[in-house]
Amino acid sequence: MKSYKNFLHLARNRYSVRAFDTRSVEMEKINHVLEVGRIAPSAANLQPWNFIVVKDEPYRSYVFEAYNRVWFRDAPVYLVLCADHNISWKRSDGKDHADIDLAIAADHMTLAAAELGLGTCWVCNFNPDRLKELLNIPSNFEPIVILPLGYPLDTGEPDRHETKRKQLKDIVKWNCF
Ligand SMILES: Cc1cc2nc3c(=O)[nH]c(=O)nc-3n(C[C@H](O)[C@H](O)[C@H](O)COP(=O)(O)O)c2cc1C
Repeated sequence: MKSYKNFLHLARNRYSVRAFDTRSVEMEKINHVLEVGRIAPSAANLQPWNFIVVKDEPYRSYVFEAYNRVWFRDAPVYLVLCADHNISWKRSDGKDHADIDLAIAADHMTLAAAELGLGTCWVCNFNPDRLKELLNIPSNFEPIVILPLGYPLDTGEPDRHETKRKQLKDIVKWNCF
């Protein structure tokens, strides 16, 4: 477990890891990350998610087929976070909150992983139809994000929050837009 002064420090230290050590991740660490996802808040507490933990062949190669990038291949674990559109909360105007719920769970998990010294990267640019077919995902479920999980071999750019993020003055409005 890495030691962070506070949440801001942890959040600043998370980054998209795109180089992984192939060594396996301890089961207790995988379970810790899953538990943090489990307790995430969701609209109307409907928890419209299933988390597929992909560690073994041939399923690893199936995930790689759906997102074919060299850096992605070495991650020892893939967490495929799926939303159940049959149970997700829909607002009166029909807006489905499944994406929001899954994003919260995923964000919890990426930060928990960072606290454990593990790396993750949000991956949404995969082939959803192929992934559904290969992992036998039921039709009412949608794979929202894949989180590769493992020990990082790269490091975050130290000044990225200054150079690659908008400044508060450009994004915050007070009282009205
Ligand atoms: C919703 C979402 C989808 C993303 N999809 C991908 C992806 O498919 N492939 C990838 O390499 N990075 C992906 N990323 C990572 C972003 O590029 C990255 O978070 C952003 O550039 C900020 O960098 P940082 O995570 O290192 O702070 C995604 C991030 C988010 C939040």
